[in-house]
Amino acid sequence: MYSIKNFSNDLEDIVSSKSSYEEIIKETAYRMSFLLDNDFIFDNDFINKVRSNQINNTLYKSNINDFVIQVFTWEANVSTPIHDHFTWGLMGVYYNKLKVIEYSIKKIDNGVYDLNETDTYIATEGDICYILPPNEEIHKISNPTNKLSISIHVYGKPIEEYNIYDLERNKIFKVNS
Ligand SMILES: [Fe+2]
Repeated sequence: MYSIKNFSNDLEDIVSSKSSYEEIIKETAYRMSFLLDNDFIFDNDFINKVRSNQINNTLYKSNINDFVIQVFTWEANVSTPIHDHFTWGLMGVYYNKLKVIEYSIKKIDNGVYDLNETDTYIATEGDICYILPPNEEIHKISNPTNKLSISIHVYGKPIEEYNIYDLERNKIFKVNS
């Protein structure tokens, strides 16, 4: 059974050997599909601790190549703001469903921007989506269901800061995490 250990080992090879982010994303998605097929990665106790913030959700951090692998738990009907990550990344749905909305930004002029929805879809178990700056990075994720969802994410570097896009106030806020 393909494990987090297998995945992190493969990612070290992929990130250090591939010459473009597009190649890294493509190869990582292929390996992530094996991981999402493994029904035994997490036990209930571990997931409950992640849900209640008793443990860190980082499953692996590369000391050589900087990427991180994290698990996210999504309670019923929760939603992120519209945001980015300043790095490439992938999200695979491990359990239940997530709604993904993707955006493009047309211009930033003195704090004014034009943000447009480019795609909306429901990602189900085994589905994988990606972000790739500068043009494919702004998104919003929500759990459209009445039960827990779980996803596994890879980011090109630990997320220390990101932007939140406030559509109502037409503003972008940089946030430190
Ligand atoms: Fe995100």
